Amino acid sequence: MRSRSWRPRRAATVRSLALATAAALAVVPLTTTTASAADRVENPFVGADQYVNSFWSAAVHDAADVAGGELADQMRAVADTPTAVWMDRTTAIAGNEDGPGLRFHLDAALEQQQGSTPLVFNLVIYNLPGRDCFALASQGLVPATPEGMEHYKTEYVDVIADMLAEPQYADLRVVATIEPDSLPNMVTNMSHQECQQSAPYYREGVAYALDRLYEAGNVYSYIDAAHAGWLGWPDNAAGGANEFHDVITSSTYGYDGVAGFVSNTSNSTPLSEPFLTNTDFTPGTFVRQSEFYEWNPNFGEHDWTAELRSRLIALGAPERIGMLIDTSRNGWGGPDRPTAPSTSTNLNTFVDESRIDRRNHRGAWCNPDGQGIGERPTVAPDASPGSNLHAYVWVKPPGESDGHSQELDNDQGKGFDRMCDPTYSEQDRLGGNFTGALPGAPVAGQWFQAQFEMLVANAYPAIDADGTVDPDTEAPTAPTGVEVTATTATSVSLSWDASSDDVGVTGYTVLVDGEPAATATSTSATVTGLSPDTNYEVTVTARDAAGNVSAASAALTVTTDEATGGEDTEAPTVPTGLTAGAVTQSSVALSWSASSDDTGVAGYRVHRDGDLVADVTATSVTDTGLTAGTTYSYTVTAYDAAGNSSAASAPLTVTTEDGDVTPGGGCVVDYSANSWGNGFTGSFVLTNDSDTAVDGWELTFTFADGQTVDQIWSASASQAGPAVTITPAAWSSTIAPGGSVSFGFNGSHSGINTAPDDFALDGVTCDIA
Ligand code: BGC
Repeated sequence: MRSRSWRPRRAATVRSLALATAAALAVVPLTTTTASAADRVENPFVGADQYVNSFWSAAVHDAADVAGGELADQMRAVADTPTAVWMDRTTAIAGNEDGPGLRFHLDAALEQQQGSTPLVFNLVIYNLPGRDCFALASQGLVPATPEGMEHYKTEYVDVIADMLAEPQYADLRVVATIEPDSLPNMVTNMSHQECQQSAPYYREGVAYALDRLYEAGNVYSYIDAAHAGWLGWPDNAAGGANEFHDVITSSTYGYDGVAGFVSNTSNSTPLSEPFLTNTDFTPGTFVRQSEFYEWNPNFGEHDWTAELRSRLIALGAPERIGMLIDTSRNGWGGPDRPTAPSTSTNLNTFVDESRIDRRNHRGAWCNPDGQGIGERPTVAPDASPGSNLHAYVWVKPPGESDGHSQELDNDQGKGFDRMCDPTYSEQDRLGGNFTGALPGAPVAGQWFQAQFEMLVANAYPAIDADGTVDPDTEAPTAPTGVEVTATTATSVSLSWDASSDDVGVTGYTVLVDGEPAATATSTSATVTGLSPDTNYEVTVTARDAAGNVSAASAALTVTTDEATGGEDTEAPTVPTGLTAGAVTQSSVALSWSASSDDTGVAGYRVHRDGDLVADVTATSVTDTGLTAGTTYSYTVTAYDAAGNSSAASAPLTVTTEDGDVTPGGGCVVDYSANSWGNGFTGSFVLTNDSDTAVDGWELTFTFADGQTVDQIWSASASQAGPAVTITPAAWSSTIAPGGSVSFGFNGSHSGINTAPDDFALDGVTCDIA
């Protein structure tokens, strides 16, 4: 391994020494008060800069010198990215052979602080007695004994907390990741003797660290919360929430000492899987049943952090708790990244070909081959609203090993874990797969050049040599294989082959003679409203989530069938008297007067806001699946057997009933939604507006556009087509007079269908006790 110099070769921030000194002096308060709890903000990242570890930056510049070429430019482009400073053993506080100590970094942070802009200092507290009880690669030097506990408190936590509390550091916002992997091991690995032995020290140690850091006044503690592929199963998620809650409430300051949780620390679970949703694969078979997901409904960190947060809030955590996600190595870019969902009809093949997570198994944690740098640190990312994301952060400094891949002596207590050995496979933790770990890895925490080169090459979003992140400008490929599957006198059905795209195709548009005539999310569509015995030129385009549209497919000329009525060219008269009957939140009953025609009216087409929504022979129809409190415009045309169509009737505007309902039982529902990408989170508050307790309730609503509920918390959902029925969890079944229960869900929409801001709430039924 190449050695690293103690001093950064280059200053991490581009500022003059004079300015830096002035800033450093300016923040030293004249009085010796520490920051008080009153100074705390909810999300410490908002409006703040973040500390750049010049020691890591120097390692990146060294790596770039070794790599050369375009890769070197890409490395230099991320060299000034904020990464966390790990206090990974007691000697790290003063500084050791691995790098300078905490004070060096804190002083450097003061130098980096610009004027009155707050500076976040990302720190990792990682030294519990019996550390890494279920693995060997990051075992520490503090034993799981009463003496070890004492050492942890007095020689480690107290020393760090006291230093952070020194007045000159009062204005720093120290964001502390608390003890990666420790409490999650208490949830899933308690059959392991080492974890049983460590358990009391982990719980006491975490509570102690939370308290002491809170007292320092300027620390925001985020407890490590594993990742989706570890605690994502419902049992583990429930166990995890309970474990976190119990430890927090055992501390002196409880939730006051907790800003939130950090997931995916040093792991590579993606934020989400762009080509997979946790829905039916075939009727009755779920995507999560695949070998890769092993029934775990959480495919990514967005889902997991939302679920964990909601579970904690249900246990009593304050709504303000936020989530951080370590995105330093969950990018999964590079040539092997899928660009579209698989078309396989075999579930495992479908999942394996669609997932961006290229690991052999989700349990593979050590230097996984194929991973890349993920999202750059981002403040309050506009994603997964249920998660209340405070930031994407780089906790694990990219380029530092997870563990050695063959026996190596070291004086840090770190063992050779076969999970880091590429020649090793195992049933229990890897489902019989090989580890997929990179060969030639040094001891955990040491620089691993080959891994860093891979991480930069496989970054997603890709790293531009000039440091910018390109917006998605790549359009999908043009659809091919367009063919006619059926024709009538007035319609043409088509199918085609799927397009591909770097981030995924979200839908297709069929154009007839150059005009959009139908849209589809699958690879088939029917165009209606055509004239008999007519040639049309049909093309298909594909689009992605960013709105990039492909070139048109090769044009296909199709001819509609001949009209059955021979010479009939006379269209029916325009329908009149269009009126609305019953209007609910989700439906509108329409009727109109019959048209007349020389050969007889064959039917009527009803258009809502220009889209065909019904084709009927009667002079009435009920349009369903509408959104509450929304205004729609309807028209009706009449057609005859020859396909002659009348002009449209005069439009009728109708507004559906409002979203809030007060049915007889006295339940009132409040609903709101937030959307991102192809997902959205719906949040409900169900209030008992009566004088009597509610004992059991049911809420039904209808999606307008094919949206699906993927995952619900604090309640259960069943969905049949667009109709969703929500029933309470055991604890949320009864609602006191005036009381309310909250629940929510993550849903998917296709990119054409937007996330519904509101639903057609068909009703809420409550049982009054
Ligand atoms: C190692 C630590 C190191 C950290 C960050 C952990 O796996 O055990 O020594 O500081 O990773 O690289």
